[in-house]
Amino acid sequence: MAKISVIGAGNVGATAVQRLAELEIGEIVMTDVVEGLPQGKALDLMQAGAVMGYDTKIRGSNDYADIAASDLVVITAGIARKPGMSREDLINTNAGILKEVASNIAKYAPESLIINVTNPLDIMTYVALKASGFKSEKVFGMSGVLDSARFASFIAKELNCSRRDVEAMVIGGHGDLMVPLPQYTTVSGIPLPELLSEERISSLVQRTVQGGAEIVELLKRGSAFYAPSASIVKMVEAVLKDSKRIVPASAYLKGEYGQEDIYFGVPAKLGAGGVEEVLELALDAKQLETLQKSAASIREGIAGLSL
Ligand code: NAI
Ligand code: 2OP
Repeated sequence: MAKISVIGAGNVGATAVQRLAELEIGEIVMTDVVEGLPQGKALDLMQAGAVMGYDTKIRGSNDYADIAASDLVVITAGIARKPGMSREDLINTNAGILKEVASNIAKYAPESLIINVTNPLDIMTYVALKASGFKSEKVFGMSGVLDSARFASFIAKELNCSRRDVEAMVIGGHGDLMVPLPQYTTVSGIPLPELLSEERISSLVQRTVQGGAEIVELLKRGSAFYAPSASIVKMVEAVLKDSKRIVPASAYLKGEYGQEDIYFGVPAKLGAGGVEEVLELALDAKQLETLQKSAASIREGIAGLSL
């Protein structure tokens, strides 16, 4: 039986635990700094199992020792965006949290893989790599699955078709410079540009880029967590089932897309080894330019860190 630990029992962490518990994919430990919070949510979720029909063992804890022997650790600890805040505003507070969390993962679960979710995503995933000292393929971040899901959902609405038939691809950093890729987005195998005008696609691309902020403005407190937690589960399943799924993930680059020593979203093959392959796509000139700008802004964030 696999063991999954989720650090941070807030909106994203606890909802991810709920989804994982319902799948009965492994035993789960959920930790948080707030005393009682993960324990209370763990109890509540196990009681939900009596209604929903799952037997997943869920333990809430404030002690890193309880993550020992985890196969996979998902980091959702940190502060989330408030209205008007960019993901980058979160950088200093969350970098401190990430250092503490990742060094404890290295101490108590040295054989695990790490999926980071905390924002600013690509920069914090870099912090997780450095603070854990893990091999780079074992540390990666969730954002592209979410951004692609947003793009897919807007496309389905526009075409009045099922979301299940849309396969979208969004790469680059998880920020205002992310790069949705219409030419690699299909609806039941049909390339998106054959179904929608350039103008309509451009408007959906714009809404996707602003997708997180749109929800933050509506919620007023906190940020999205239903689609983010679903996106985490897709990645966890790919790893635990060693299914070699190709999804956009924030991966450590070693020359791919002309970039080195940086994390940003790229199509990645996920399996038991973590990121087993990074796929390089041909991009148009504008997409390449945005990707370079996105990388430059991530580099700037990394340069400001004291690692
Ligand atoms: P939240 O505020 O609901 O939960 C965060 C939890 O982390 C809180 O319970 C807090 O007590 C806990 N925490 C803080 N410091 C900790 C520490 N040192 N150790 C353990 N736990 C600690 O926030 P939410 O909505 O769950 O978001 C979590 C993070 O995920 C934020 O940084 C947010 O921006 C990010 N996020 C990223 C997404 C992505 O696509 N990568 C999507 C959605 C959210
Ligand atoms: C999102 O995109 C806040 O990064 C988070 O919803």
